Amino acid sequence: MNEEQRLQAGLIKGKQADKDYSKYFEAVYTPPSLKEAKKRGKEEIEYHNDFQIEERFLGMGTNHKFHIRTFGCQMNEHDTEVIAGILTGLGYESTDNVKEANVILLNTCAIRENAENRVFGELGHLKPLKLENPDLLIGVCGCMSQEESVVNKILKTYDQVDMIFGTHNIHRIPNILHEAYMSKEMVIEVWSKEGDIIENLPKVRHGNIKAWVNIMYGCDKFCTYCIVPYTRGKERSRRPEDIIQEVRHLAANGYKEIMLLGQNVNAYGKDFDDIEYRLGDLMDDLRKIDIPRIRFTTSHPRDFDDHLIQVLAKGGNLLDHIHLPVQSGSSDILKIMARKYSREQFLELVSKIKKAIPTVTLTTDIIVGFPNETDEQFEETLSLYKEVGFEMAYTYIYSPREGTPAAKMIDNIPMEVKKERLQRLNELVNGMSAEAMKPYKGKTVKVLVEGESKRNPEVLAGYTEKNKLVNFRAPREMIGKIVNVKIIEAKTWSLDGEFIGVVEKEKVTL
Ligand code: 5AD
Ligand code: SF4
Repeated sequence: MNEEQRLQAGLIKGKQADKDYSKYFEAVYTPPSLKEAKKRGKEEIEYHNDFQIEERFLGMGTNHKFHIRTFGCQMNEHDTEVIAGILTGLGYESTDNVKEANVILLNTCAIRENAENRVFGELGHLKPLKLENPDLLIGVCGCMSQEESVVNKILKTYDQVDMIFGTHNIHRIPNILHEAYMSKEMVIEVWSKEGDIIENLPKVRHGNIKAWVNIMYGCDKFCTYCIVPYTRGKERSRRPEDIIQEVRHLAANGYKEIMLLGQNVNAYGKDFDDIEYRLGDLMDDLRKIDIPRIRFTTSHPRDFDDHLIQVLAKGGNLLDHIHLPVQSGSSDILKIMARKYSREQFLELVSKIKKAIPTVTLTTDIIVGFPNETDEQFEETLSLYKEVGFEMAYTYIYSPREGTPAAKMIDNIPMEVKKERLQRLNELVNGMSAEAMKPYKGKTVKVLVEGESKRNPEVLAGYTEKNKLVNFRAPREMIGKIVNVKIIEAKTWSLDGEFIGVVEKEKVTL
């Protein structure tokens, strides 16, 4: 699109654009397309190991600071670590104070409407900063930037935004920033179709106790309510040797816990055409690494195979907590959600897992108020929750997402019914969490100490192997260690305990 076309399309921001801008840089105007993002081709996945910051951009951020606000899931949190890595490579310094930032990025989440509204609200709050400091650059990235409706809304209403870039464009940040500095118009670079993996992107990790490690990107499941397959592209797995090397490196650097990340980790390896290697194989290799704890998220019941269950049953550093989103307890609703399993199949999987790992703790995600959900079908969700004995759930009211198949269904459950169902479900979830906590009283658990408790800086907090929050008093030197804590009080969502001592051998023997 040339400048004249952009002017006609109303894409040039308030100020007069520099007439000669095109001689300085290649114009960036690649808007998103959910329709394009939906396509799944047969193209090979390309792996790149050649990321490097071009010489012309080095020092771009000298004496400048950046601030990133992250919304949404752990995948987004981890992307923020990569974005911070690239910005640091450009010479920027991180700041927690939004007022002293020269570059502010909102790494956004598109999963539900209220997540999006929070981002629009935040953009509104940032406007006065932009008026005070016209040199400030404000950017929107993450899942929302993959949606054309969002990009159009920003173009129309939020002229404080200088750049929008997509989930597949993170490695292009140096170019995007460069263009945003040079141009007086909004720079938009959102690729809708991406099948590549870039291995060597720099990262500034948050903390040095727990680390996120991507094992795959994207999702091909296309559950009818979900925007993720459109915002994150097709399923593509990192090569096992790259993941193993990253985990080894983290172990050598003293990290105690790894969270393996993917939108649908159970599809790991499905896209390899040269090797037969799936999540079970990966976990079996990772469990041999000398690191105390390895978790993974998020699972899809459909691809949860027997080999993975056998490997998880070996224990060691593979923890006996599995987050297994069920979404609904009604086979009819599961069908229109396109989850590709029935209530009975889910229960069968759960019993297989419990048989192989008798100590397992299961947690889940549930959506209430999906189109056409009857009271009886909702009751089936409650009964399934009890039958499985889930210990925790993230619960949501269905939110139509433009471009998904469910958004074309009539959203025919009144809001007050949705809210009432959510409340009933939450009461059950809280009650079952409290029940699951009770047996801990008097027992000693291993806690990975993460830091001070949020409520009281004199108290330390950390998580057990089953991801239960434990608060206790102990010397600050215990932060980052795995310690034994005797539980003296069990609450609904946390445990209070007494510090006993450091666990000498943190790694569980194979
Ligand atoms: N509305 C409500 N909840 C949703 N989720 C995903 N899409 C939607 C939607 N459109 C929930 C699912 C998923 C979790 C990450 O978010 O429960 O597992
Ligand atoms: Fe969305 Fe998860 Fe379904 Fe993929 S598997 S479409 S990320 S809910």
